[in-house]
Amino acid sequence: MRVFSAILPSGNLHIGNYIGAIKNWLELQNQYQCIFSIANYHAITVKQDPEILRQKSLEIAKIYLAAGIDPKKVIIFIQSHINEHTELAWILGTLATISELKRMTQFKEKSEQHKKNVNLGLFSYPVLQAADILLYQTEIVPVGEDQKQHIEFTADLAKKFNKLFGETFIIPKALIKEEGCRIMGLDNPLKKMSKSAKSPLNYLGLLDTSEEIRKKISKAVTDSGAEIKFSKDKPAIFNLLTIYQILSFQSKKEVEEKFKNSNYADFKKELTKIVLEFLEPLQERFYKIKDKEVYEILQDGANKAQGIARETMKKVKERVGFLTSL
Ligand code: TYM
Repeated sequence: MRVFSAILPSGNLHIGNYIGAIKNWLELQNQYQCIFSIANYHAITVKQDPEILRQKSLEIAKIYLAAGIDPKKVIIFIQSHINEHTELAWILGTLATISELKRMTQFKEKSEQHKKNVNLGLFSYPVLQAADILLYQTEIVPVGEDQKQHIEFTADLAKKFNKLFGETFIIPKALIKEEGCRIMGLDNPLKKMSKSAKSPLNYLGLLDTSEEIRKKISKAVTDSGAEIKFSKDKPAIFNLLTIYQILSFQSKKEVEEKFKNSNYADFKKELTKIVLEFLEPLQERFYKIKDKEVYEILQDGANKAQGIARETMKKVKERVGFLTSL
């Protein structure tokens, strides 16, 4: 079974990206053939500074490694190193309809955020994502809840292709853990924590300093009342408790029991402690990783990914009726 997932090298990676995606990858890498990419083609669908994009791509690779993704077990590569992603996206684009793409929530949200740059790439973003996944004959796509619609779209596109041209692609499924699949913003618990949030108070960055983490948690919005419980009508506390519960490897019951006599201030102190206990060793590893080491891992990853991508593309071109080159 093959697993594929990716992260955009834009903005600051946050605890939502870790809990919703990377943490689950850590478990999967011991059981399946995993491929984790850095989706720089996707990143440029919104304006990027070229130098920062380069730095962020390297940074994401280092975060994968510092979080415990093992390059001996998995393939880590940069999306733009494999030409087949855009090649397959073009072909799949001829099967994706405008009405399907118009329904994509992420497109609607991003078009709202970047009103002056609603470009073709942003519109066809899910087609490129489908190409990422289908190119590697992926069965499992571990992601956060916000990506569910894109994975369903990918599965539909694969079925459509198979029906038209014969069995070619494996039909992928999203793997979305119930707990932590949608970590909410600390400044607004009704909207998901986001890398592109305007205020840094929205997210806990994986590379934030201890001071920043302390400040962000102390300023995090809370609900009315004082009870510290996983209650749907207390979205702010629910969200903070979820982060606490996942990082401390405890059950909801254990966490509620622990804080049953605490107030919000006590709880926030404990949350800060647990977040720092998680981030400090990750950051220590991150800052020790040399650029050279990362380049080698990415080169090796691209070599391995290339082999699989080429094989799929050869099949796809035959199926759609392209003359094979000499
Ligand atoms: P990106 O970079 O926006 O998000 C990376 C991963 O983090 C998850 N995530 C969250 N999980 C929980 N709570 C949150 N607040 C939160 N915010 C983000 C996302 O669901 C994702 O798993 N389109 C993808 C990148 C991509 C991709 C792919 C993913 C490109 N090609 C192929 C899977 C397969 C994205 O927007 O990533």
